[in-house]
Amino acid sequence: MELIKVKNYSEMSRIAANILSAQVILFPESVLGLSTGDTPIGMYKQLIEWNDKGDLSFSKVKTFNLDEYIGLSKEHGKSYSFFMWNAFFSKININKKNTYIPNGLAKNIQRVCKKYDEDIKKSGGIDLQVLGLGVNGHIGFNEPNAYFKRNTHKVNLSESTLRANSRFFDSKEEIPNSAITMGMGTIMQAKRILLLCTGKEKSEILYKVLFGDIDPRIPGSILQLHKQATIVADEDALSVIKSNGLL
Ligand code: GLP
Repeated sequence: MELIKVKNYSEMSRIAANILSAQVILFPESVLGLSTGDTPIGMYKQLIEWNDKGDLSFSKVKTFNLDEYIGLSKEHGKSYSFFMWNAFFSKININKKNTYIPNGLAKNIQRVCKKYDEDIKKSGGIDLQVLGLGVNGHIGFNEPNAYFKRNTHKVNLSESTLRANSRFFDSKEEIPNSAITMGMGTIMQAKRILLLCTGKEKSEILYKVLFGDIDPRIPGSILQLHKQATIVADEDALSVIKSNGLL
C-alpha cells in the first residue's frame, strides 16, 4: 500500500483527480469503479473542469458504481444513480450506456447482482477503483461482518451506517435499510485501488484499516492485501495514526 499524505480536502481531491486522469489519459478505454458520498465530490469537480477544458476525455471510459440503495428509483433525489448524474456524469462527455449502477428497484435483486459481476467481468475487470471509507470501516456497503462477502450482493445496512447517512435524508425513516453493493472479491479484483479519506471522524477507523488486523469486522482492512492500493488521506484523517507514532 502506498500512502499519500495531504494537507486537507482540496489537496486530497486534486491528487485523486490527478491519479484518475492519469489512468484515463494513458488508457482511454479504462474501466473505472466509482463511489458516492461527500468524499469524492471535490475530485469529480476537478475532473469536470479538466474535461471542460478538453484536457481529459471520458468518451471511451466505462464506469461501475460501488453501490445503490434498494427501493429508490434512478430519479429519486437521494439515490446514488441521481447523485452520480447530478455530480458527475451529466457534466462530462461520458456515454450513458457505459455507466453502470445497480438497479435498486429491480424485482429480482439476486439476478441484478449476478449480472453486475458478469458485466464487470465482460468489460475486462475494473482498472481503477475509487473508494471512500465509512465510519465503521465499510467500503461500498460492505458492512462489518463475520466474513468477507465475495460477490455483488444485497446487504442490510448497519445502525452506524443508517446514522451516518441520515444527513443526506430529511428523516431517519426515509433511509432505505438495505442496498446492493459490490462484494469484497469484486473490489479486490480491481487492478488498482484508490482509497480517499478525509476528516477527523475517519481518523480512528483509518488507523484500524491501515494498521490493524485484517478483520471482516473492519471491512476496509482487507485493502492491506491489495498490491496496488493507494491511500490519499488528509492531516485530520491521519491524526490518530500520527498520535500512535506511526507517521
Ligand atoms: C457511504 C457509501 C460509501 C461511501 C461511504 C463514505 O455509505 N456507501 O460508498 O464511500 O459511505 O461516505 P462519505 O464520503 O460521505 O463519508
